[in-house]
Amino acid sequence: MHEERSFEPETIVGHAGNGCSSEQLFPAPESPDTSHVDLSVDLAGVPLKNPVVVASGTFGFGREYGQFYDLSELGAICCKGLTLHPRQGNPAPRIAETPMGILNSVGLQNPGVDGFIAHELPLLQRSDVKVIANISGDTPEEYGVMCERLSAAGVDMIEVNISCPNVKAGGMAYGTRPELAAEVTKMAKSHATVPVMVKLSPNVTDITEIARAVADAGADALSLINTLRGMRIDVSSRRPILKMNVGGLSGPAVLPIAVRMVWEVACAVKLPILGMGGVSTGEDAAQLMLAGASAVAVGTALFADPYAPLKVRDGLAAIAVQQDLSAVNMLTGGIRPW
Ligand SMILES: Cc1cc2nc3c(=O)[nH]c(=O)nc-3n(C[C@H](O)[C@H](O)[C@H](O)COP(=O)(O)O)c2cc1C
Repeated sequence: MHEERSFEPETIVGHAGNGCSSEQLFPAPESPDTSHVDLSVDLAGVPLKNPVVVASGTFGFGREYGQFYDLSELGAICCKGLTLHPRQGNPAPRIAETPMGILNSVGLQNPGVDGFIAHELPLLQRSDVKVIANISGDTPEEYGVMCERLSAAGVDMIEVNISCPNVKAGGMAYGTRPELAAEVTKMAKSHATVPVMVKLSPNVTDITEIARAVADAGADALSLINTLRGMRIDVSSRRPILKMNVGGLSGPAVLPIAVRMVWEVACAVKLPILGMGGVSTGEDAAQLMLAGASAVAVGTALFADPYAPLKVRDGLAAIAVQQDLSAVNMLTGGIRPW
């Protein structure tokens, strides 16, 4: 006699009439043994235990995320952008969602360089993780002062954010003019005793022009990309969603732009690159490394998944196994352009 069958999903998948369990039909993908893969990378002389860094402004100073996992799992922590004096940041709303990304106009809310050194750095230095301080100045001289204080305090590296306005040059962002970018780089280099990495803005016509100016001015490394200027408008009120009207776009939407810019910069200058912009998987990170990055940073992905950087690290290790590489640094610059 014909047996009545229920067509609930688990009946179809789990008991398909052939005696197989769902596990046998759809076995979980085996995670490869990655224990033999060398994850370590070198970023301008700073040894990182793995290539995954957390991006400035998306991880604070590590206090909150440190409740999820040991900070020593990360390659390095890029701290929230610091200024010479404490800042409140911009008025809310300062975050807006976009398709595959977010817009932010947080501004540089931070405790100031001395507050960081007194209250945040000691905690980070007790964890076995490299600390990269990110700095923004109103004037080139402010960058110099901050580099001196942070070097003396023992950070491992300084990331110079040049996407902010130069007050003396009428509010022009340093990162959009080669001569301003070079001036800030020289000032930072002459006051820092640790490697200086300059973070490039993507809001330019030709990013290689700025990269070359910064390299000639003595930078030890480059990081890119910072956020892209964008805007959202609420149609019914006709008001911009962000109180500052415009903000910076980040997240998966910007990954292809980041990959393209890292590749262009890697072709133009010889400096090591920390690549970032939209990374949320090992595959994304591998694209940036193949394009020329020595290490990668994860930012916006953290807001959806605090474990994203660890998943990116494990994903990179799995890709190395699949491609028979003994070390992840063998991905760097491995692109085969047409
Ligand atoms: C909320 C937020 C705050 C940020 N703050 C800073 C900052 O203080 N200094 C800086 O150089 N970049 C800052 N960034 C830019 C990120 O470090 C990173 O360059 C950018 O978001 C692209 O990476 P992602 O797409 O993985 O987030 C910020 C980004 C976000 C989303």
